[in-house]
Amino acid sequence: MSKGLEYLLRPRSVAVIGASRNPEKIGYQVVRNLLEGGFPKERIYPINPHADEILGLKCYPSILDVPYDVDLAVVVVPAPAVPSVLEEAGKKGVKAVAVITSGFKEIGNYELESKLVEIAKRYGMRLLGPNIVGICDTVKKVNASFCQGLPNPGEVAFITQSGALGIALVGWTKLKGIGLSDLVSLGNKADVDEVDLLEFFEEDNSTRVITAYLEGISNGPRFMEVARRVARKKPIIVLKAGRGARTAGAIKSHTGSLAGSFAAYEAAFKQSGVILADSFIDLFDWAVALAKSQLPSGENTVILTNGGGAGIMATDAAEKWGIRLMDIPSDLAEKLRKHMPPFGSVFNPVDLTGMADAEQYMGAMKDLLLDPRVDAIAVLYCHTAITNPSEIAQAIIRAIRETGVSKTVVASFIGGEEVSQACSQLTESGVPCYESPEKAMAALGVLYKYVRIRERLERRTFVSVDADPDKARELVRRVIKEGRYVLTPAEAARLVSYYGIPVLQKTLVSSSDEALRVAREIGYPVVLEVESPDILHKSDVGGIVVGVDSDEAVIEAYNRIMDSVSRKAPNARVIGIIVRKMAEKGKEVVIGVHRDPVFGPLVMVGSGGVLVELLKDVSFRVAPLALEDAVEMLEETKIYQVLKGYRGEQPSDIESVVNALIRLSRLALDIPEIEDIDINPFFVYEKGKGALAVDVKVTLRKID
Ligand code: ACO
Repeated sequence: MSKGLEYLLRPRSVAVIGASRNPEKIGYQVVRNLLEGGFPKERIYPINPHADEILGLKCYPSILDVPYDVDLAVVVVPAPAVPSVLEEAGKKGVKAVAVITSGFKEIGNYELESKLVEIAKRYGMRLLGPNIVGICDTVKKVNASFCQGLPNPGEVAFITQSGALGIALVGWTKLKGIGLSDLVSLGNKADVDEVDLLEFFEEDNSTRVITAYLEGISNGPRFMEVARRVARKKPIIVLKAGRGARTAGAIKSHTGSLAGSFAAYEAAFKQSGVILADSFIDLFDWAVALAKSQLPSGENTVILTNGGGAGIMATDAAEKWGIRLMDIPSDLAEKLRKHMPPFGSVFNPVDLTGMADAEQYMGAMKDLLLDPRVDAIAVLYCHTAITNPSEIAQAIIRAIRETGVSKTVVASFIGGEEVSQACSQLTESGVPCYESPEKAMAALGVLYKYVRIRERLERRTFVSVDADPDKARELVRRVIKEGRYVLTPAEAARLVSYYGIPVLQKTLVSSSDEALRVAREIGYPVVLEVESPDILHKSDVGGIVVGVDSDEAVIEAYNRIMDSVSRKAPNARVIGIIVRKMAEKGKEVVIGVHRDPVFGPLVMVGSGGVLVELLKDVSFRVAPLALEDAVEMLEETKIYQVLKGYRGEQPSDIESVVNALIRLSRLALDIPEIEDIDINPFFVYEKGKGALAVDVKVTLRKID
């Protein structure tokens, strides 16, 4: 368990420093919330030098005057007074502080905030906040917040980086009948952050599902390591806000321009088993399913409905979520037929028809529950004038109880107010119920997703890479020493070749005679291309000539490039002309690395060539890549279908791509000075014939 967080989230006693006599102040509301939430009043200690009593509780002038041990101190005094009250809390031996007060880092007051951290560290106190709404813990009934009341008790923990959203969601979750174990506001994360909370909830017996609204993650690699461990035990669902923001700094590479910061979050979440939600409604819908439901033990799902339309909607949603609908075996069909009129359907969706009553639902449910070939049931109900939703909900619950079978069951009850109570009954009884078939199937889809996540997290294979990191390091440091941050093509090719990536060798020349000598040496046909730090797309300025196949053609190409570039890019600095062998064309793939500020090297693969930015057929993962990561990221792209052998074509050497991705990820991890690597095109040949990095660009960065 994360050190000291039990005092913060499961305290035995709570002091409120800045408890106010004025009902309009937060310091008053926190004391009232603690009392009304049901925390034992003899263990609530209001602190205020100007008051003797607040809300019937004895008030102490300083925390040092409290004659009892204090686990948690909630701080609600104005910002300038916070360091001194923290100092006193430390002296008192308080174990954890939650600072509600605003006016720190969020307004640029870094110094004051670091003072709080320093004091908390000195006394070994954990510090939540500052700038928080507080903590709502329904387990020990601690409402140390200025939220309106405690949420309903439940098994979903909610961590929020937005205080206002936290307050609002207390009411919303109540309205929706969703129960929470805790609602914790993160604020400025001066000390306690999302990773500490994941570690706490990992061990917390009252929490089955961990959810979070996050705007950013403080330490990417630590988050991934902990989340990967926690997700094997409990599902983690995150709503990540701020998706549009792009990584800071000048982005020149393909990889860099395609890797917005959200791409890094998406990749990191996939690799660490975190389920990403697009809205807080999805987040809670899914959390309820994961908290209430059995996980499916196999892939066979049956949809049971009283309405054809609802069944079709659920079928469409099943396809979207990759849910396999079972072909109903004839013996089971025979049994099901007994619970429906002759015009019902025993195909999947099983349609009991609009006339279905509670008894028929119960009969069909029992048959499906008792059949070991059925792994999951989605039961749908459309309200009609002749049916009673409460009776049908009860019939479903009774079928589960009477058969004693624990199987995955989700439901959707569609209708007005008359169905809402029935729906809540079902959810409370362990059958998560939703207002639409799509939502029910999405919840089922997430249950399956979590099963796959757990299986995948168990399997992570790291292959060793034979490389020459010393040579790579030496090359990079030499270039930086020369004051350069962009490698020449020859250097870039050499760098990746040290990590075993097959690469086309390039030679830089500065005269047509030299070009001729090199071309003869490597053999015709060759390619000539301009080398300039100012020209990104060489073909746009006539800076590249391919298929040069004779001495005369070399001289002609050399002069043509120089002439065209001087006209079309007159201000570009031309370092020389590169002569390289004309590579046999393969399938064009792009591979690259971009260093993300939060997660570190982010590896990319996708459709290469000149249309890379237009197609945006790319996929990312955070380094280091396990073999499974490299395979999965490639499988997510469309170019993968081409590499597999599209429309009767020979399959390509997919292994070479996977291999190169793993090697690239290793290189970027070993050499922290690497900012970006872009290999485009990476020619991939037929299966067994390998691949070739044709154009390699490497950008470096200064590190302290
Ligand atoms: N020790 C103990 N009590 C003290 C001390 C002290 N050193 N100093 C003052 N007090 C008492 C005061 O006497 C007062 O009690 P009284 O009203 O009975 O006299 C009480 O503490 C509060 O002090 P005030 O000076 O009245 O401060 P006020 O209540 O106006 O504001 C607060 C304090 C709420 C912490 C404010 O500074 C603040 O930061 N507000 C923002 C809180 C917030 O929004 N947090 C983020 C939530 S996230 C979101 O987005 C919603």
